[in-house]
Amino acid sequence: MAKKTNWYKDAVVYQIYPLSFMDANNDGIGDIRGIISKLDYIKDLGATAIWFSPLYKSPWKDYGYDIADYKSIHPAFGTMADFEELLAECHKRGLKVMMDAVFNHTSDQHEWFKAALADKNSPYRDWYIFREGKRDKNGELMPPNNWTSSFTGSAWERVEGTDEYYLHLFAPEQPDLNWENPAVRREMSDTLRFWLEKGVDGFRFDVFNMISKVYPLRDDRNPLHFQKGVQYYVDGPRMHEFLKELNDNALSLYDTFTVGESYTPDEQHAHRYIHEESGELDSIFHFEHLMADNMFGLKMVAKPFNLRQFKRGLLDPQLRYHGTGWNTLVLENHDQARSVSRFGINTKKYRYEAATFLAMITFLGWGTPFIFQGEEIGMTNTRFSSMDQMKDPVSHFIFDMMKGMRIPEKAILRLIRWAVRDNARTPMQWDGTSNAGFNRGEKPWQCVNPDYRDINVEKDLASDKSIYRFYQKLLALRKSEPVLLSGKTIEYYPDDRQVISYSRSMDGKRFLIVGNFSGTRADFIMPGDFELDEMKIRMTNQGRTDAEVEEIIQMKPYEAILFEEIRK
Ligand code: GLC
Ligand code: CA
Repeated sequence: MAKKTNWYKDAVVYQIYPLSFMDANNDGIGDIRGIISKLDYIKDLGATAIWFSPLYKSPWKDYGYDIADYKSIHPAFGTMADFEELLAECHKRGLKVMMDAVFNHTSDQHEWFKAALADKNSPYRDWYIFREGKRDKNGELMPPNNWTSSFTGSAWERVEGTDEYYLHLFAPEQPDLNWENPAVRREMSDTLRFWLEKGVDGFRFDVFNMISKVYPLRDDRNPLHFQKGVQYYVDGPRMHEFLKELNDNALSLYDTFTVGESYTPDEQHAHRYIHEESGELDSIFHFEHLMADNMFGLKMVAKPFNLRQFKRGLLDPQLRYHGTGWNTLVLENHDQARSVSRFGINTKKYRYEAATFLAMITFLGWGTPFIFQGEEIGMTNTRFSSMDQMKDPVSHFIFDMMKGMRIPEKAILRLIRWAVRDNARTPMQWDGTSNAGFNRGEKPWQCVNPDYRDINVEKDLASDKSIYRFYQKLLALRKSEPVLLSGKTIEYYPDDRQVISYSRSMDGKRFLIVGNFSGTRADFIMPGDFELDEMKIRMTNQGRTDAEVEEIIQMKPYEAILFEEIRK
């Protein structure tokens, strides 16, 4: 057992989506050499770790979340030697490295799956989940059960020329692995050890709580379920056992940080996944607050912003898991639209205010911040004008589904373009030159957001309203205050429809975070358990001074204030 230093407890993780970060060889696709050239930029922000979305060989049907070889580097990104250099360069700067562990499924181009398809008697057949189809009344062949994929449609794909199907909870090109098979589990532990031996410091586990299914694989008979089968494959019966096994055979032998991307886990299970004593994961992501302005949790269809849902989603896990496990704080990732373009924000008018506001109310909470590339300069959503500008297959699945419901194409485009994942995946905007400085060559694989001349790193850094510099200050302040790192969160006015506010406290020391989450003025009344003359402003995004603090504070749109209590 390696000694756990719990390095993640004061860490700040920066997420890189390698395809879109920096393209050093000008072929239109981001790469490892590009990343290496920008490590100082990440370090200077105040990040202490980087999580890389998948860098492995993949046919990119889901842009790397369909892995064809777990122990490889995609040639478009570079070589294994390039990766080792990247790792060394990160470590030289004190940056930890986290890899993406996509263990629920492989690519259909993985050798295991090819072998499984080619020969029914191959030992690899049992590495996946094959089942005989059913016959309906008319003798027509049907999938083995009615489960639907997270990416729409049946979760079963028929094996050509046979009566058998295989299970895929995501795209048909992402067959689910059979975790009941000990050989699969051994291989996954081995994969973790492979990267840990190279010096990798941690993992983000992709949709981790779907790996254990309830057998036999039954129909979902709940008419209220939009997505069928969820109760049979989320938080399944062997989840805890499988996680423990990965720990015993790999994770606990190194000083790691593990965070699970969960699909709305049940509270009791979540407690166990992250409990310090249970030896499963260090933390999980919570996304409830990021569903406050879109439907089905599919992140695809916009709905009016619900602040109370946002507050519950952001703050409840902080109240619930404090003292037992560890939390994470997330506004964006490669599956989410750009935060300054969401939540009812008038981006044209309030981009700077909203970006700094969102950072304060999110990252002053309890947990490890995860910052997604471009978030730190307030990158915005792209006004996609046609479906072929969207590269994410999921955007197209949703489009097809809605077309099937006879919704006109223009209307679909308008409905989905503010919520689709493509918004996160446009190239990073480094400067105002063509292709936004992402490269100086081929057209990028995904279109550049046309606002790049106004919104880019170079311009942001030169501005007196720099979002990057605001993040720098915020992250530095956070790190310097143990209360902000580990203190308990208590929410105030949970039902207020404009304001979000909570305190952080530890060992008799307290901070109060207040933010006006709206485009109009809002009144905030100092809560009764604070003395007005003991409240000092530690940080604000719109220049308020202590002299401007009264019993009732009139807050500007998207104003955020961090108070420190100085006891007299
Ligand atoms: C996770 C990933 C997402 C991917 C899916 C299937 O949600 O973040 O990008 O499409 O899992 O692997
Ligand atoms: Ca490249």
